[in-house]
Amino acid sequence: MARKQPLIVGIGGTLAQNSSTARLLKHALDKCEEAGAQTRLFTANALELPFYAPGRELASSAASTLVAAMREADAIILSSPGYHGSISGLIKNALDYTEEMAEDSRPYFDGLPVGLIAAGSGWQGANTTVAALRSIVHALRGWPTPLAIALNSRQPLFDAEGQLVATQVDEQIRAMAGQITHFLERARPPVAA
Ligand SMILES: Cc1cc2nc3c(=O)[nH]c(=O)nc-3n(C[C@H](O)[C@H](O)[C@H](O)COP(=O)(O)O)c2cc1C
Repeated sequence: MARKQPLIVGIGGTLAQNSSTARLLKHALDKCEEAGAQTRLFTANALELPFYAPGRELASSAASTLVAAMREADAIILSSPGYHGSISGLIKNALDYTEEMAEDSRPYFDGLPVGLIAAGSGWQGANTTVAALRSIVHALRGWPTPLAIALNSRQPLFDAEGQLVATQVDEQIRAMAGQITHFLERARPPVAA
């Protein structure tokens, strides 16, 4: 029986040119598409949102678009730089908008698999940022994938065209994308054709 094509929403990256966390996120979404998912990417300017204000009607169409996509998502992938030992303000502010979903029949990221990527200019920042992302996903009732990806962006990851050349990282991203699609296959009932 046919299955609905799942939607995987990627949120991450920085406002820096050639953001490594944005490129890694895009790579992860590409792997999910190869596995049959449809994807949407929210990065850079799409995340330049006003600070989330509880109770205030959403005036930003970019914020409304993000919330609508998060509501529709079957899975999420988050990709954050380590900024001073934790996730960036840009990503945290975007995630604060999940508060709009607090009263939904499926609140926050309830029941969704959530893949995690973090990069720092060293291992310490990358690892503390993965830990912060896991805590946030637990707070949002999501299911962090067993494999999260922590990267040192000082190591060579991309070629001049921005393609991922670090084979081991590619393998990790494929494994994480595989965990997401495996979770979705087990969690989602087939739909009638
Ligand atoms: C404001 C700021 C704070 C940062 N703090 C840390 C940090 O605490 N630990 C670390 O390893 N790297 C830190 N970095 C480096 C970034 O995490 C690293 O360059 C990362 O690759 C940036 O992601 P991007 O390539 O997507 O822009 C910081 C960078 C900035 C701009």
